[in-house]
Amino acid sequence: MADINKEGRSSLVDPIHTRIFTHPSPDEIETLGTMLREGKLVALPTETVYGLGANGLDSEAMGRIYEAKGRPSDNPLILHVDSAESIVPLVDHIPPLAQDLMDAFWPGPLTITLEKSDRVPDRATGGLPRVALRCPDHDLTRQIIKAAGCPIAAPSANISGRPSPTTAQAVWDDMEGRIDAIVDAGPCSIGVESTVVEVQDEGLVILRPGGITEDMLKKITPNVSYDKHLLGAQEAPKAPGMKYKHYAPDADMYTLVGSQSHVARAMVDQLDQLAERASENNGLRVGLLVSSGLWETIHEIFASQQEDLVGDDDLVDLEIIPITYESLEDLAHSLYQALLDFNQAKVDYILAEGPSQEGLGIALMNRMKKASAGHVMQV
Ligand code: TXA
Ligand code: MG
Repeated sequence: MADINKEGRSSLVDPIHTRIFTHPSPDEIETLGTMLREGKLVALPTETVYGLGANGLDSEAMGRIYEAKGRPSDNPLILHVDSAESIVPLVDHIPPLAQDLMDAFWPGPLTITLEKSDRVPDRATGGLPRVALRCPDHDLTRQIIKAAGCPIAAPSANISGRPSPTTAQAVWDDMEGRIDAIVDAGPCSIGVESTVVEVQDEGLVILRPGGITEDMLKKITPNVSYDKHLLGAQEAPKAPGMKYKHYAPDADMYTLVGSQSHVARAMVDQLDQLAERASENNGLRVGLLVSSGLWETIHEIFASQQEDLVGDDDLVDLEIIPITYESLEDLAHSLYQALLDFNQAKVDYILAEGPSQEGLGIALMNRMKKASAGHVMQV
């Protein structure tokens, strides 16, 4: 039994022993399959983020996922399958467009919602008529799902509201004592969650942007739109999870969007202000999440200011911890880990450079906006 206190941290009434399986052997894959089939909670690697797996046909087992994560009960789960054929018993019917999407992108980071069959418990869908389905591009995890012989419900393996885990260590930090096992197969290759789409008769709607981009989907059907909620409308999101606090680091985070020279200027201004505040506060620590190009520019401006500020103690009190990235793929890969590293470093503030709004940048901005609790500034 778990209590989640108001910081979203866990206090365990009755901790359980969490086993680690590092690169499991064929025998261990069978063991993990049996554990899952029999209702245990097992964290599994995928190409996107680590998932917290349970038997997707067992309401009680899925109930334990919600308990372990402190997840709101109306937020439905994705059922993970080992092949496209495995969805047949789980859905009412397979529209031709859904088949085309599976042929094109599975295994891979695309989650498809389809009308569910009676075999799928309401616990999996939060009572919704559709079930979310995904076949992960991760051989080991597909083998474990196959060994389990049932679909595996798996939300990201973090305490609800916190950054998603992209390493087994990050899963351990949130879930040790709450779940039965963690499978460690190294860091996830993509680093942000799958694209979630609702397949309709005449096209599809993106409910959550992710690794499969709008342009990639448009190669399958021209009729691709975004859920109105993602475009800024006040309507409730169609993916219930999109309305909750998400990916939040401990420190206040601000995301700055604009041309690199504008963002550099604005960040230096912010750092100046923080440096002033730092001397009044016995020091401050700031985490910067920026492209390596931006970091160079900020560094240059700061260095020249430092020359003007000889004798000024402000800068001594401000500790800057930069985490830099080279590309959108690199940012996707390191975003959640950077937020967790900033927690570990106990930074007081995080300043982040918003990515360009194209391709993977749309999914990244969606996550960074949530991590920043809406503090996104166009500069
Ligand atoms: O990449 C991923 O998708 C990862 C890995 C572990 O597979 N999983 C993941 O699960 O991100 P989770 O539970 O953290 O996010 C699932 C999202 C939520 O926003 C949820 O509301 C939405 O999918 N969702 C699930 N079932 C749905 C349904 N029937 N209709 C609409 N949205 C649904
Ligand atoms: Mg999640």
